[in-house]
Amino acid sequence: MRFTSSTAVALLLARSASAAPQLKYGENTGPVGGITPPIPTATAPSGSPYGDSSLLGGNARVPDVDSDTAQVPERPQLVNGQDADADLGLYLDLASADAPQPIRGDYGDVDPGPRTFDYEKLNPDLFAPPGTDAGSVPNAVWPLGLSHNRPGYRGRSGWARQQNTDVLPNAKRMAGVDMKLAPNAYRELHWHTAGEWALVLKGCVRVAAINDENQSFTDDLCEGDVWFFPPGVPHSIQAFDKGVEFLLVFDEGDFDENGTFLVSEMFARTPREVLSKNFHADVDAFKDLPDGELYIFNGTRQPKDIGQQNTTAPGGFLSGNGSYTYHWSRQEPYRVPGGSVKILDPRTFPIATMFSAALVTVQPGAMREMHWHTTSDEWDYFLQGSGRATIYHAPSAGRTFDFTAGDVGYISQAEAHYVENTGAEDLVFLEVLQAPKFSDVSVAQWLALTPRQTVKDHLKLPDKLLDSLPKEKTILKAGNRNLTALTGGGKAYEP
Ligand SMILES: *[C@@H]1O[C@H](CO)[C@@H](O)[C@H](O)[C@H]1NC(C)=O
Ligand SMILES: *[C@@H]1O[C@H](CO)[C@@H](O)[C@H](O)[C@H]1NC(C)=O
Ligand SMILES: *[C@@H]1O[C@H](CO)[C@@H](O)[C@H](O)[C@H]1NC(C)=O
Ligand SMILES: *[C@@H]1O[C@H](CO)[C@@H](O)[C@H](O)[C@H]1NC(C)=O
Ligand SMILES: *[C@@H]1O[C@H](CO)[C@@H](O)[C@H](O)[C@H]1NC(C)=O
Ligand SMILES: *[C@@H]1O[C@H](CO)[C@@H](O)[C@H](O)[C@H]1NC(C)=O
Repeated sequence: MRFTSSTAVALLLARSASAAPQLKYGENTGPVGGITPPIPTATAPSGSPYGDSSLLGGNARVPDVDSDTAQVPERPQLVNGQDADADLGLYLDLASADAPQPIRGDYGDVDPGPRTFDYEKLNPDLFAPPGTDAGSVPNAVWPLGLSHNRPGYRGRSGWARQQNTDVLPNAKRMAGVDMKLAPNAYRELHWHTAGEWALVLKGCVRVAAINDENQSFTDDLCEGDVWFFPPGVPHSIQAFDKGVEFLLVFDEGDFDENGTFLVSEMFARTPREVLSKNFHADVDAFKDLPDGELYIFNGTRQPKDIGQQNTTAPGGFLSGNGSYTYHWSRQEPYRVPGGSVKILDPRTFPIATMFSAALVTVQPGAMREMHWHTTSDEWDYFLQGSGRATIYHAPSAGRTFDFTAGDVGYISQAEAHYVENTGAEDLVFLEVLQAPKFSDVSVAQWLALTPRQTVKDHLKLPDKLLDSLPKEKTILKAGNRNLTALTGGGKAYEP
């Protein structure tokens, strides 16, 4: 967490103490671009918006080049580790500086503004990149806090915000939606062309669906549980009494939450004569149909007893390997030094034929080990804490991205990466692949299982390192909680 409650209190105080601008944006309050605030108040127009040709270069007098400065008045305030060799690539806690500067080791220079400090404090590896970053890597992060939120209907029924290729162009194979339903509210009955995999983030929900083989399905899910609806399968989603928030992942990068097939619209678009014939009812029966889309709306309370809503279908109730839900919350995490992991893929949740996921918890100082996924892109969602990842993009580019809770990450197939916890609390994130099983190649294991002479000829690594390489994937690597400990030389790992 880089926004502490004291920051929030400070912001609140600033807010009540003065008029706008309430936030401390950064060093953009002094003269900039030839404008010196505050701009005098005018009571009537004066002057002209246009200049004349006397100001053209060659016509105008040359300025006194000593008159302006782009340097900051005081010695730049550097954070711990910022002076260290850029190739060490230490994590820089820029939040600990009042005015962070894009300096690392011998590289960079001060930034006199204009700027908004909070972006730079949240993204130190973009602002002052490790010396090992090079070339250009497609953007890999989208904070859902920058997504336009679409509210549901009146009555404070909920909201949804999405990430797709409109905002993260490289995320071609998966897209995500974060949705909140108020107590008893619905996401209107619908279906879509994409497969929908969902993780319940908070609260509880009832889902129901039917398939094309006369089978039906109903289940109740709470925090940490998962559902999957294959393409074209119509489903219902209703929150319980305390509301629900869930994360949806779709297997189409350009998925648009606003492009779903909706029961309300289907009825509104069908001639009443046809409805009468189809449903064997008087035309009058359709007089109260909604005018258009319901999207997210308040509902009546559903019975707690699921048995009352568990319609028996001629083809039976979908269960076992046909089930659309998985009670992932009850799967015990696999604990390893540095944290834990839970994997869910079609081997245990067969209906989601191409969705393989890992829910990873990384303790402070630890990291998800260097690896890549052989056949799939990776879509990530950060549930808690903060972390960073360097993406190695073939043949010779690499870029480091910072992530905090609520961010989406996207890494293309076969791009090597790690995810390091850069905060003081546990980092929790979800990795989702389009693959029939969750798989990765561990860099450490690769070297451990490659002939030693081959590895030595390539990387000139000492025998001591090669002796201690584990032959198993460790998934995580425990590490020093002090991410700038290396400024004094030594090691970043924990034995
Ligand atoms: C919607 O539900 C909320 C919470 O249950 C309730 O406070 C509100 O009055 C409802 N609004 C409408 C329009 O039904
Ligand atoms: C969603 O689609 C409907 C129907 O096309 C349109 O009226 C509405 O403005 C769209 N909403 C958003 C947020 O794009
Ligand atoms: C729904 O009904 C079916 C068939 O009667 C039963 O097998 C299944 O366990 C029920 N599911 C729930 C969640 O109650
Ligand atoms: C679904 O119903 C149709 C028509 O009654 C029947 O032909 C078909 O065998 C049923 N399918 C299943 C899986 O029960
Ligand atoms: C369910 O799927 C698993 C793995 O795909 C398989 O081992 C198991 O036999 C299946 N169970 C049933 C009842 O079909
Ligand atoms: C981390 O290590 C560096 C280098 O030894 C030291 O200067 C710094 O004070 C340490 N930070 C903390 C929080 O212990």
